[in-house]
Formats: sequence, structure tokens, C-alpha cells
Amino acid sequence: MYDLTDYGQMLADHVRMDPYAYALKTAVTPNSVVLDIGTSIGIHALLACKFGARKVYAIEPNDAIDLARELAEANGFADRIEFIQDISTNVTLPELADVVVSDLRGTLPLFGQHIPSITDANQRFLAPDGILIPQQDKLWVSVVEAPLNYNNLLKPWTEPYGFNMEPARQIVLNQWQHDDTDLIRAAHLLTEPTNWATLDYRTITNPDVEADVVQTAVREGTAHGLLVWFDAELLDGIGFSNSPQSGKVANVYGRGFFPFLNPVKLAEGDTINLSLQATLTDEGYCWQWQTQIHNQDDPKIIFADFKQPNTL
Ligand SMILES: C[S@@+](CC[C@H](N)C(=O)[O-])C[C@H]1O[C@@H](n2cnc3c(N)ncnc32)[C@H](O)[C@@H]1O
Repeated sequence: MYDLTDYGQMLADHVRMDPYAYALKTAVTPNSVVLDIGTSIGIHALLACKFGARKVYAIEPNDAIDLARELAEANGFADRIEFIQDISTNVTLPELADVVVSDLRGTLPLFGQHIPSITDANQRFLAPDGILIPQQDKLWVSVVEAPLNYNNLLKPWTEPYGFNMEPARQIVLNQWQHDDTDLIRAAHLLTEPTNWATLDYRTITNPDVEADVVQTAVREGTAHGLLVWFDAELLDGIGFSNSPQSGKVANVYGRGFFPFLNPVKLAEGDTINLSLQATLTDEGYCWQWQTQIHNQDDPKIIFADFKQPNTL
């Protein structure tokens, strides 16, 4: 559950907000009916009004919607925005929307009920020639040398007062981490990033994603895990990148760090076989990542064979 500080950070993240504002400016016309799913403090709804929307439906279960109502009033848009406190899948609207805008992602777009909510919006709310913002997200993965992230993860569980903390170590090594530390930059990538999944929101129906990826070490180094991030296309040619190669600091999403069970020394040319799986359950997404690292000259020589979480 987000609070006002979280919503303030989302609002202040210009890497994210500026392309959203530009996409709305591009899509909204004076006759537009706009649906803002997950309006929070109402920023997309306010922008849609500013760009001339005739009517905006703004849906949000969080009590932040009360502040959104006040902000609409304070900015003279209260007569054009209809606020509905609920989740979108429970709502029916009296008309179809020309533009549906949302950002229901977490660190990664595979988060909570994001995909089912978008599928539902496509089927029930979007006019046949309507515009969906965002249009698609591309998910990327790279093997990374990240000693600080890895050591920070394990530090509390490294024999405090002489106690064996192995069960705790096993838990933290089998969970992926939200990383907004900016410690992992382009120089820490050990492989070229691979686009392992594309979520096309205009057509998506399956919330589960599974992909096998083969990567090659581009230099020698010590691999500590996988870094996963996404690039967003809000409209054709309008978007943003969360890549550590973008040269920008991590924005409000951060990136996902998937640790290995132990660090693995790589030589240039070694082969890394990855299998990534995200499955939506009643409790949210369940992630699995499998890693096999082979010697470049003799594939029978396997340096690492991790199946994580190893509790499954
Ligand atoms: C990441 S925040 C984005 C807030 C705001 N739209 C922005 O871009 O700054 C996502 C918001 O969507 C809401 N939300 C998630 N799923 C929803 C759904 N199916 N219907 C309505 N709101 C939803 C959450 O409560 C949260 O406030």
C-alpha cells in the first residue's frame, strides 16, 4: 500500500513523468474521454484535463483519491473528473474511453494484478480505435558483477556473535531484491543485455512469462547475480529506459537484482544459460531463475548450476 511519500517520489521522477505527460499531450484531444487507472493523487487525470479532455474517469482504491479530489478542485478541473474509489476490475463505466492511461508497475511491470487489469481495460473500457498508454514494456536481463549489493545482502547473516545463520542466508539468496542503490552501473554488466520478454499491453492476456536466454561473458569477472529492468514505450517514439546503460541514475522503479547462490568466476567467452519464470499467484508474482554456467571450450565443464528459489 503506497503512502503520500511514495506518490510524491513517483511525481518527482521526471524520467518517468515527463514522457507520461508528453504521451498524454499527444493522445488527448478536446473531445477525448480518458480513463486513468490507478490515479493515486490524480496526476494523469489533471494532465488529461490540462490537455483538453472532455471527461476523465479516475479510478483508485487508495484513500489518496481524497487528495486527488481536492487537487482537482484546486486546479479547476473538478467538473470534468469523476473519481471512483475501487479497483478497475470492479468498476463499470457509462461510456468507452478514447485514452486509457495507467502505471500499475512495481519495480518491474510483472507486479500484482497489473496484467489482468490491463487485459480487462482493453476488453471493457477502451474504444475500438482508442489509445492505450503505455503500449509496451521490454524486459531486459544481464549477468552482473555486483559485490557491494551481494555483500550488503549477506552482511547481517555472516556469523553474528559466532552463530550459524545459514537458514537466513538461504532465504535472502533465494529472493530477488529491489535495487535502487545505483551501485550497479554499465561497467558492472558481464554480458550484453538480452530482451527476454516484451509485454505488449494492446494484446496481452497471459500474465505469466517464461523465457530461456543464452548469454556470453564479454569479460572476465565475478558474477554475483542477474540484473533485470524494463524499458517502456508509452506511445510510438515516447518512452523511457531503466537501463544501467542509459547513463541516468535509477529512477523510482529501480531494478531487480536476482542473486546467485554463490559468486562465480567467469572468463571472457563463458556461456550462461538462463531460464526466467514469473508466475502470477493469488499472493502476487512467484519468480524462479535458473542459471547454468559453462566453460567456453568444454560445455561439459559446468561452473554453476543454480535453481532458485531452491525451496521450490
Ligand atoms: C505505481 S502507482 C501510480 C500512481 C499514478 N498513476 C502515477 O503514475 O503517479 C499505481 C497506483 O495504481 C493503483 N492500482 C493498482 N491496481 C489498480 C486497479 N486495478 N485499479 C485501480 N487502481 C489500481 C494503486 O493503488 C496505486 O495507487
